[in-house]
Amino acid sequence: MSNRLGQSGRGTTGLLAALRDEQVRRGYLSPEALMRIAAERRLSPSVVYGVATFYHEFLIGNVRELVIRVCDSPSCHLAGSELLIEQLERLVARLPGPVGGSVDELEHRAPAVRIERVGCLGQCDRSPAVIIGSRLYLKVQSRELPLLLQRALAGGDAAAPAPAQGGDGRGHT
Ligand code: FES
Repeated sequence: MSNRLGQSGRGTTGLLAALRDEQVRRGYLSPEALMRIAAERRLSPSVVYGVATFYHEFLIGNVRELVIRVCDSPSCHLAGSELLIEQLERLVARLPGPVGGSVDELEHRAPAVRIERVGCLGQCDRSPAVIIGSRLYLKVQSRELPLLLQRALAGGDAAAPAPAQGGDGRGHT
């Protein structure tokens, strides 16, 4: 029997994989996608939402917002995550501020940028770890941040499908 849920199935079995698939496809998890996944699996939306918000890897909500998540748990902190956050704050402060415009103009505008400190991303041996949009970067150095931010803003990392990690294990592609 063909199963449009593919590897995911029903209930909570494979729910994480389904959420990851959706995030790779869209770059984020919209409320509509969470509702659809819940309906497909015959789960309460609150269960799906709870799982999606529990894991730091998921970006939920507004596609026009680029969220940068910097791990500041001990291993990444020791590897310099605080310097990365300071550098990111300086870079983001230099970006042009929001201006008015039509809905269509808003759709095509570069996303707003939000920086978040998050707990361990499970990559302690390759710290510091940073997620920019949907892309995970490992062993990040502050001198790399201008390019990574520029790439995310230009290439739509907030919305574009992207692998969680690149082939060299650092997430750079
Ligand atoms: S402490 Fe940052 S990934 Fe584990």
